[in-house]
Amino acid sequence: MRSVHFLLTVTLLALATSIASAYDPSPLQDFCVAVNDPKKALFVNGKFCKDPKLAKAEDFFTCGLNIPGNTSNPVGSAVTTVNVDKIPGLNTLGISLVRIDYAPYGQNPPHIHPRGSEILVVVEGTLHVGFVSSNQDGNRLFTKVLNKGDVFVFPIGLIHFQFNSGHTPAVAFAGLSSQNAGVITIANSVFGSNPSIKADILSRAFQLDKDVVKHLQKQFWYDNN
Ligand SMILES: *[C@@H]1O[C@H](CO)[C@@H](O)[C@H](O)[C@H]1NC(C)=O
Repeated sequence: MRSVHFLLTVTLLALATSIASAYDPSPLQDFCVAVNDPKKALFVNGKFCKDPKLAKAEDFFTCGLNIPGNTSNPVGSAVTTVNVDKIPGLNTLGISLVRIDYAPYGQNPPHIHPRGSEILVVVEGTLHVGFVSSNQDGNRLFTKVLNKGDVFVFPIGLIHFQFNSGHTPAVAFAGLSSQNAGVITIANSVFGSNPSIKADILSRAFQLDKDVVKHLQKQFWYDNN
């Protein structure tokens, strides 16, 4: 009985450890190409890994990032994400990429990447960008107007945005320090949650009339990702 308990404890500890290492761990091998079929898998490290002997160049490749995203939407921008779901070879490597297209005066609305910092380069147009530091830091706004070739960093977990202040389309590429950085669009999460957060709560939290909250909750919150 005792040894059964011991085994159970060890198993639980092992499970806890493997959950912790799902946070983009430093790779312990050259690569760990993600595979959907666990029967063909060797071990778990983020996603199931393909037998390294079966890895091919295609596992580390994708194409089409020359194609602009469709910005005919309520926010006027489109994010094309290249993460571990697109390139299985990104598994455990702690890195990914996006292309962002902006219509004239379009924006990538305030959002958070819960698992990654972002480094963005403008390749076309002009972007007004910014992020806000945490409560502890006084919620300071760090903002900048970026032109072609300019680079800006958005630290992990902080609310940030980009706005195309020019009358021509803009294009940016960004690297993210996670194989799957995730996106939390503030308006979508707060006013577009499913089911809705009680209007009383948001009314007080945002110092808004309850009718205004209900109006916001009725809107369609477009996801540009
Ligand atoms: C872009 O999206 C709009 C709205 O969904 C759609 O009407 C239009 O056909 C799309 N354009 C292209 C080129 O796919």
